[in-house]
Amino acid sequence: MKPKKILVIHGPNLNLLGKRERSVYGGATLKEIEKEMTALASSEKAALDFFQSNHEGEIVTKIQKAEGKYAAIVINPAAFTHTSVAIRDVIAAVSVPVVEVHLSNIHARESFRKESFVSPVAAGVVFGFGKESYLLGLRGAIALTRLKKK
Ligand code: DQA
Repeated sequence: MKPKKILVIHGPNLNLLGKRERSVYGGATLKEIEKEMTALASSEKAALDFFQSNHEGEIVTKIQKAEGKYAAIVINPAAFTHTSVAIRDVIAAVSVPVVEVHLSNIHARESFRKESFVSPVAAGVVFGFGKESYLLGLRGAIALTRLKKK
């Protein structure tokens, strides 16, 4: 059976990576990060789809539609991490395991970033490693898909 794909979701303002607060988020663009993720996925014989949106509802709909289509989701919910009950609820509603990732250490920044609505419903969380967080999160997601098949 062909393994199902992994969906990678990027939340608001992540399309600005490379230009945006480089001292916090590093210099890599989203395209460069996606290229590295694709290379890792293909070395692990996994396939990825990418989705970036600045709109909460679009992310909710994408996660609803992931049911039955994707084996796992890697998401950086960006600012919605700290605000979105809707994204939290849809992750709880679907059976697809979700790995939450952040470039920065959200616990070492402003206090409003310490709370994540997503973490309690995530299968795992990776933060603070810059673009490596995405690659570590993807490794975790791939491991989860393999565990699930046992
Ligand atoms: C972020 C951290 C969030 O607090 C912030 O709103 C972002 C990016 C990160 O990847 O470090 O947009 O999710």
